[in-house]
Amino acid sequence: MLERRVAGSVAKKHHVALREGGELRYEECLTREGFDGPYTILYHRARPHAQRAVELAHGWAAPSTPAEAAARPLRKRHYQSQRLAGGAGSPVDARVPLLYNRDVVLGVVKPRGDDPTYFSNGDGDDLYYVHEGGGTLRSVLGDVVFGAGDYVYVPRGLVHRFVLDGGAAQYWLSIEAAGGVGPLKQFRNDVGQLRMDAPYSHRDFKTPEFRGPSDEGIRTVVVKRGGAFHGFEWAGSPLDVVGWDGTVYPWAFPILNFQPRVSSVHLPPTWHGTFAARGALVCSFVPRPVDFGPDAIPCPYPHASVDCDEFIFYCRGNFTSRKGVGPGSVSHHPAGIPHGPHPGAYEGSIGSKSTDELAVMLDTYAPLSPTAAALGVEDAAYHDSFL
Ligand SMILES: [Fe+2]
Repeated sequence: MLERRVAGSVAKKHHVALREGGELRYEECLTREGFDGPYTILYHRARPHAQRAVELAHGWAAPSTPAEAAARPLRKRHYQSQRLAGGAGSPVDARVPLLYNRDVVLGVVKPRGDDPTYFSNGDGDDLYYVHEGGGTLRSVLGDVVFGAGDYVYVPRGLVHRFVLDGGAAQYWLSIEAAGGVGPLKQFRNDVGQLRMDAPYSHRDFKTPEFRGPSDEGIRTVVVKRGGAFHGFEWAGSPLDVVGWDGTVYPWAFPILNFQPRVSSVHLPPTWHGTFAARGALVCSFVPRPVDFGPDAIPCPYPHASVDCDEFIFYCRGNFTSRKGVGPGSVSHHPAGIPHGPHPGAYEGSIGSKSTDELAVMLDTYAPLSPTAAALGVEDAAYHDSFL
């Protein structure tokens, strides 16, 4: 959640009548953590809770519940998501979960077309990293335009759809966070503003451009809840919002707006922490000068972070510590065994001045399990590549 924003027409006070041309507007309170957390109040032309339940007949066949793979030996793993076939329909259809636990579902999305309906994820917040492509996230709160290199945040329960840039290849990392995701608590001051020493500021975020009620002719909203898709039909356009006020809204954040920290010696991954989810930390590894102290070893030290599984999605550049991984590669280094650089990388990094690596990493507290889709693109030689 970011700072409070107001757009369009809102009532003088929450829970009092808003009339436009003598017509009463209908409040919808989108609240988090029950009624204790951040919230946004929307004003609709029509009652927002009058939907007809409908059968979904248009093939929303996304693997909504990850298909679990059989238990396997403990190994360092490498999944080549670049080998996954793309183009399976619109963004929701095209989600391919690769690794998951009780807190997060991590996968890739290679959509080919716009969402034909609106979508609302009742299972968690969605945070995408757009490795390739771009488009517009259209929502009841307005449009967020995004492109390659952006994180795109969609709060749980927000009615939205993706309109993709025509002709562009689309290749996104998808992070579904059951307990929510957003800026780290310690990045905020007492009034909720991002602190002066946070690694980004409010102006680094692209927030929704609200243009008032619109009608795209779409009446169906697909809701994901409990891993299953459920269809509802509105009588009018779901984008009938005349105004809103609050802190719950979608945004995009260009990964290169993250201001990396550099030290005399190598800093632990927590310094690259960008967003926090329940049970997981999302880190951004962006181009930067490297550790500059005498005899510093810029390559990450071998480590056994015994409480965490490590997930890395490699975007571009020469990832200092790893060989044999390329853009789209996913590595999974599970707790229980130490991990670290490939042979030669540790020694070879001494004296280097900068890195052009770009990667998104998650440390998760609960162990990650692979899906059957992940096993289909596994690089079986990875574990032994550290010998
Ligand atoms: Fe690690």
